[in-house]
Amino acid sequence: MTHPTTWLIANWKMNGDRERVRAFAFAINRTLATLGGSGVRGVFCPPSLYIADAVAALPQNAVLGVGAQNCHGAEKGAHTGEISAAMLADVGCRFAIIGHSERRALGESDAQVVEKANAAIKAGVTPVICVGESLEDYEKKRTNEVILRQIKPLSALPQGAYLMAYEPIWAIGSNRTPQMQEIAAAHRYIKSVLGSGVSVLYGGSVNVGNAQEILSLPEVSGALIGGASLEIETMQTLLEIATRIRGTV
Ligand code: PGA
Repeated sequence: MTHPTTWLIANWKMNGDRERVRAFAFAINRTLATLGGSGVRGVFCPPSLYIADAVAALPQNAVLGVGAQNCHGAEKGAHTGEISAAMLADVGCRFAIIGHSERRALGESDAQVVEKANAAIKAGVTPVICVGESLEDYEKKRTNEVILRQIKPLSALPQGAYLMAYEPIWAIGSNRTPQMQEIAAAHRYIKSVLGSGVSVLYGGSVNVGNAQEILSLPEVSGALIGGASLEIETMQTLLEIATRIRGTV
């Protein structure tokens, strides 16, 4: 195992309610604590409205991190409906997914992604920066080209201050994943541009059936999990799989 940490990040998107957020945070933190010290780390990204509820459901010495699904690139100001990275940090949020394809589809540009990542780092929030190609680009074998366009502006960011997530758009919520060698190749490519020390997670239809194979790839430093993270038991199983792969259970 070349990477120091295996990250499992639950992206709830626009799902859940206050009660389920609290229950998930509490239960998953306990699971992580029980599995203990294995190099597997968990992060829970509920809708922003519930971030403070997730934090409040955790004990002081919690091992589960809480994250947001977005943040704004400015520190403060006239940005109706937006939330700054400093505000996230203020309520105990330590991570933020940035540049998810569902946000890029709303018009978020590569430049805005860097701006947001910088704002997050400045506020002490670790950005989890998402990149990935569309089905058309995948079929036309333009994956590396798309990835390069998305990650080139990131080379100015301090290494080690952020996580990357490779998420082919066509694999998200589709029950389809690339071949294992394609995942490995995309991860190697990202590392070849940004540096071998950058942790790259895989995202897109990760579930209990394919996690073993995906997380066993030496290039893969964890997973960004959408649909399969919504149930406590499924997330617990995924954490157990990750822990077993690291050879500590
Ligand atoms: P999925 O979503 O696991 O439901 O495919 C992953 C993501 O969009 O982060």
